[in-house]
Amino acid sequence: MCRIAVIGPNGQLGSALCRQLGDSAIRFEHDVLDITRPAQVEAALDAARPDVMINTAAYNWVDKAEDEPQAAYELNALGPRHLALACRKRDVVLVHISSDYVFGLDADRRTPYRETDCPGPQSAYAVSKLAGEQFVRSHCPRSFVVRTCGLYGHAVSVGKGNFVKTMLRLGTERSEVSVVDDQWCTPSSTTDVAATIIALMATDRHGLYHATKSGGTTWARLAAEVFRVAGMPTRVKPITTQEFNSKAPRPAYSVLDCGQLAEATGQTLPPWEEAVAAYVRELRSGA
Ligand SMILES: NC(=O)c1ccc[n+]([C@@H]2O[C@H](COP(=O)([O-])OP(=O)(O)OC[C@H]3O[C@@H](n4cnc5c(N)ncnc54)[C@H](OP(=O)(O)O)[C@@H]3O)[C@@H](O)[C@H]2O)c1
Repeated sequence: MCRIAVIGPNGQLGSALCRQLGDSAIRFEHDVLDITRPAQVEAALDAARPDVMINTAAYNWVDKAEDEPQAAYELNALGPRHLALACRKRDVVLVHISSDYVFGLDADRRTPYRETDCPGPQSAYAVSKLAGEQFVRSHCPRSFVVRTCGLYGHAVSVGKGNFVKTMLRLGTERSEVSVVDDQWCTPSSTTDVAATIIALMATDRHGLYHATKSGGTTWARLAAEVFRVAGMPTRVKPITTQEFNSKAPRPAYSVLDCGQLAEATGQTLPPWEEAVAAYVRELRSGA
């Protein structure tokens, strides 16, 4: 049986992967493997001898990265570099997760990005994610780099929130929430993204892929959908990115074209709305 190591098994995507992989998953928790330490990476691979290694670990604090770009680069770029070098040496397939935020510099873009489109990162976080992709692709040819977007799911780690959970909390505290309405992306459930990564891994079509649900929306429209499904009366006040005034710039449009993934796996992830509704109902029922 194929042995699959999962880095970040308590995070949102890592826990979904472990649930679906069951007994074939070898969990590498942060306290036993810190990917920024090359010696730990080498030792972990030698001890576990996996066939495939999936890296879901990342520095995900987009705004904070503007103040500490070195920390973001160390985890999002150099960590994957250590993994890529160690995996290549042992002929282990590396699956690495990246982000829609590698795009965004083209302010006029309004059609889904393909893998062949030139990236244009805008923030320290985005630059670090793009560098991580490039290290993996140049040092480990037997690799899959999978860009995803707007993840929500059930993390084991305490305190790991996501946009949907934040809206449900704010909705109980306020009658109106102000949400950005000029950033287009695709909310994607970790359950679906994990399943598609597992399907992709079963192929030998190594390379760069986009993996999200279908369609696109803005954060304000997503918030309105969350409140509608939850049956909450909370109003959404659409605001601009400029009004929200976050520290790091974000793409005005980062919807990804997932055609290449569909071609490799024979699967297309359905539109985002259905999975968001199922997730909201699950959270509301306490499941
Ligand atoms: N969340 C999104 O909306 C989104 C969007 C696009 C792309 N992505 C990408 O998708 C991937 C998964 O995201 P996620 O939301 O599932 O992340 P997450 O919930 O934050 O999980 C990341 C995991 O990595 C672990 N980790 C952190 N630093 C580590 C280190 N130095 N060595 C080993 N493990 C470490 C964390 O463990 P501890 O908590 O114990 O530190 C955590 O379990 C990431 O590559 C992310 O950039 C996410």
